[in-house]
Amino acid sequence: MYRSHTCGELRASHIGVEVVLSGWVQKVRKMGALTFIDLRDRYGITQLTLDESKRPELLNTSLGREFVLQAKGNVIERSSKNAHLATGDIEIEVTELKVLNASITPPFTIEDDTDAGDDLRMKYRYLDLRRAAVRKNIELRYAVNRAAREYLHELGFLDIETPFLIKSTPEGARDFVVPSRMNEGEFYALPQSPQTFKQLLMVSGYDRYYQIVKCFRDEDLRADRQPEFTQIDCEMAFVEQEDILNTFEGMIKHIFKAVKGIDYTDIVPRMTWDEAMRRYGNDKPDIRFGMELQNLKVKREALYAPMANSGFQVFDGAETVLAINVPGCSNYTRKQTDELIEWVKRPQIGMGGMAFVKVGTDGTFKSSFDKFFDAAALEALAKQCGAQADDLILILAGTEEKTRKAISELRLEMGNRLGLRKSDHFQLLWVMDFPLFEYAEEENRWVARHHPFTSPKPDHIQRMIENSPVITDPANYLNHPYADIKANAYDMVLNGNEIGGGSIRIFQKDLQQKMFAALGMSEEEANHKFGFLLGAFEYGAPPHGGIAFGFDRLCALLGGSETIRDFIAFPKNNSGRDVMLDAPSSIDDKQLNELGIRLQPKA
Ligand code: AMO
Repeated sequence: MYRSHTCGELRASHIGVEVVLSGWVQKVRKMGALTFIDLRDRYGITQLTLDESKRPELLNTSLGREFVLQAKGNVIERSSKNAHLATGDIEIEVTELKVLNASITPPFTIEDDTDAGDDLRMKYRYLDLRRAAVRKNIELRYAVNRAAREYLHELGFLDIETPFLIKSTPEGARDFVVPSRMNEGEFYALPQSPQTFKQLLMVSGYDRYYQIVKCFRDEDLRADRQPEFTQIDCEMAFVEQEDILNTFEGMIKHIFKAVKGIDYTDIVPRMTWDEAMRRYGNDKPDIRFGMELQNLKVKREALYAPMANSGFQVFDGAETVLAINVPGCSNYTRKQTDELIEWVKRPQIGMGGMAFVKVGTDGTFKSSFDKFFDAAALEALAKQCGAQADDLILILAGTEEKTRKAISELRLEMGNRLGLRKSDHFQLLWVMDFPLFEYAEEENRWVARHHPFTSPKPDHIQRMIENSPVITDPANYLNHPYADIKANAYDMVLNGNEIGGGSIRIFQKDLQQKMFAALGMSEEEANHKFGFLLGAFEYGAPPHGGIAFGFDRLCALLGGSETIRDFIAFPKNNSGRDVMLDAPSSIDDKQLNELGIRLQPKA
């Protein structure tokens, strides 16, 4: 028997019991004749005491950090109790000690506040995973997984696996491809999601499907993206959008309760995509705080009257002028506003500068562009922005898209600075009625905003069918009839992060064909890529829809972080590398030969 108890289990009630513990050496301290060892396992830390005066033979053992030990002894009351430790009332008076395995000195300390940088931790991820902080994340991940399964199982969903070696049909992200040895010169692709398979399962009659499944996307990485990530992927047949929203709102609430003990009883608010963009400049708004966008000049509209023709070229010449009103910040110093100006000038934000108006507590106005505006104009502007005494209005001017993105980022930044985005304050939101298409500038064509299987709003189908997708005037693509066709598509947003997305699908062959045509696919191309789906739609496809949640993102947010890497046992770094395995790596000529592949420098 290696152990009778774990290192997190023993309490005062065990005093007098003889126990056997096994675990890793966290720390060794010598104090006179006594040697104290903190022994650690997944469950906690227990103090072992070796008493040289009673058992000198125990001290013959050489010990170091991360040695694996087995200790037999009696549970005794600790003289100096440790209130920070669950086992802090007791210690083990060791009678037998065995080194099960030695350890060389670890490259960093296995403690919550480790001294190691990211790359070192990732290289030795198996040691990093021993740290309690990381272990808690992995445990939370399992709790979320279990809660999701419990909920879906109760509702009669079946977990059905779908293949990983599939056909390459890039749309959206790039595919990861896998060469086939048995079919020389041909490649599989790893699925970006099981989208078409779950739709086929609906055709097959499995009307409630789910899978907690790996997805693979060769895209640029960020804190909330990994090349292989996990989805809670779901699909239902004979449902309308409302059924999906209710079912999965229920799932997320169940997870909140099961994992965090939070009774999320509020109905999740809903907002159309148009409204989200107008009010927050963002399709995944953090609605835990206000500071909504004020539109002082929209494309094709005049500058808000009091500001017109002031001679201030920054506003007059801009396509759009957007502002946010930051409450209680009129006392910002020159240094603070300068710092914000530098912040918006960073390459990630890319603005040329920022203007501001301070609304004094005494009713005066002070702006960075006083030369061009008199007090009355500033007052009118403040009123337009809904500003009150003591507020600070921040204004960005420039091209439409860039300025909107920048002010939306600035809003989040101000939310952070004012402490309005606490990680333990959870706010869900549904964003609905997304545009069906998105304009791809480089290719001058429409691409599917969600994916090509998403259905248009019923009232918009005609517009799609009757109009050609060709864009003759790229500069004014927004005037094309496709630009404001809306989809039966919805995202779930948590604290400003997209945690899930889905749609009601197209289930008729002819509409699906029209959709492919709208995306610029010829009939042959559509058949080549998606013939299997079009074929299946000829055999009685039921109406269906679904959603997929970003499992890693959901776990990270529930764990109070936006970095999903910390919630994945073996993640990739920002360049998509596994630094522990040193992958990707080259393969030898024999392997290449078998696959019929010869490497050539990129053209
Ligand atoms: P979508 O592409 O919106 O939808 O993905 C669903 C959710 O998965 C998460 N996600 C990611 N998480 C980590 N790393 C990534 N690279 C990454 N990409 C996406 C997001 C996102 O909301 N088949 C459709 C779903 C459907 O229509 O049912 C799909 O994959 O949280």
